[in-house]
Formats: sequence, structure tokens, C-alpha cells
Amino acid sequence: MRKKMVAGNWKMHGNLVENKQLLDAIVTGLNGLYKVNFFVCVPYPYLPSVQSILQNTNIAWGAQNLSQFERGAYTGEISASMLNDFECRYVIVGHSERRSLFGEDSQIVAEKYQAAQRAGITPILCVGESLEQREAGTTEQVIEEQLATVIKLAGVESLAKAIVAYEPVWAIGTGRTASPEQAQDVHSFIREGIAKQNVNIAKSLTILYGGSVKASNASALFDMSDIDGGLIGGASLVANDFVAICRALHQ
Ligand code: PGA
Repeated sequence: MRKKMVAGNWKMHGNLVENKQLLDAIVTGLNGLYKVNFFVCVPYPYLPSVQSILQNTNIAWGAQNLSQFERGAYTGEISASMLNDFECRYVIVGHSERRSLFGEDSQIVAEKYQAAQRAGITPILCVGESLEQREAGTTEQVIEEQLATVIKLAGVESLAKAIVAYEPVWAIGTGRTASPEQAQDVHSFIREGIAKQNVNIAKSLTILYGGSVKASNASALFDMSDIDGGLIGGASLVANDFVAICRALHQ
């Protein structure tokens, strides 16, 4: 059985007061639900307070990025072992905003993925095509390259301790969601590609969909056979919406 998951990606939003209100409402809304793994990926400075609020609940926490380096003269960077100090179980790597706005190529993403795993933190590896790439018919090639770079560095077996998130760039924060069928096609392409290298890893790999998931479209996406949950941006900042999305998967 594959693990089902819903993750919130807060991006660069929140403050101490708002975070507490949001998390208190989410904890109440998800109380007693244990069939799905829930977690939130929060900005670094809030990790200690998020840790103390979510400790002993059914919601885990993580970060949105990390350094590929273990330690040293890397001003402004955060290492995997620092995330471990705050009991982060997950970290997002290769989000399209990191790739496009901060120049992270697939090699850097692969190194970050490996740095997370070395520290025992589960990386959520984001892959996805831009609108131009989709229109040019190169979606599969783009995703294949993004995955292949990680597999080349860390090995296909490393995916046993990772999560993949398919996030079409044209659907992120745009209100334009991939249709359930469009998303399913790419999810099954990802799973089949990995199955060619290791069937068991492919079968047990959790693949999340991300890109304008809302309470209103979550069920239709989660009904697809290769979609194991969601990575939620905007809607994860609204307690009722995030809880409704989580409950849609839990059913
Ligand atoms: P969105 O973001 O849900 O706001 O589209 C998803 C993401 O970037 O992970």
C-alpha cells in the first residue's frame, strides 16, 4: 500500500500570530485522522514554534529548501542537520520557484535531495513542465530529465525514502489546475518510467499532485489511480480549505 499524503507549502507567508491561529484550526480540523500523513513545510524561522505547536499531533512539519552542503562558509544557507535539530521529517527540493527564480538546476536539486536523505529527512522532489514545454509537446522529456539526474546521483533505490510531486509550472498559483486526466497521465508516466528500473520502488512510491489544488477540485484529482495526495500552496494558508483538502483524501 502506498502512503497517502497532503503537504502544505506555505512559501514566504505567515507570521508568529497567524501561524498559531492557522495551525490551531488545522489541528482541530484533522484531529483523529490517521490514515493519511499530513504535514506543513514552513519558512525556516518558524520551525521552532511550529515544532512546539505540532508536537504530539497527527501533523508533521518540514522545510521548503535546504543547502546541498553539510557545513561551511555558505552565508545564508541552512543545512540538513540544522533541520534535524527541529525534527523536520520532510523537505521540499526542486520546487519550480527555486529552479526558475533562484537558478537551481537538476544537478543542484539532486545534490539537495541527497543531502536530505543523508540526514534522514524525506525529500519531496518536485518535477514539472512549463507552459511552453507543454505546448511544445516536451512534458515527458522535461520530467524524465529532472528525475534521471536524481536517479543518476542517488540511485533508483533512493526513491524508497522519497516523495515525488508533479507540479506543472503553469498550474502553480495560477488558479488553473491540470485536469484529473492530465495529471493522471503524467503520474502514470512517472511511475512507469521508474518501474522500468525497479518495479517495487515504483509501486510503493508516493506521487503527489501540486498546482492550484482547492477544496473544490481535490476529490476528483485524488480519485485518480496514480495520484497519492497533494502538495498545496495557496489553499494551505486557509485552515478550512486545507482541512477540506486533507479530508477529501482521508475518505
Ligand atoms: P498552489 O501552489 O497550490 O498555490 O498552486 C502549489 C505549490 O507551489 O506547491
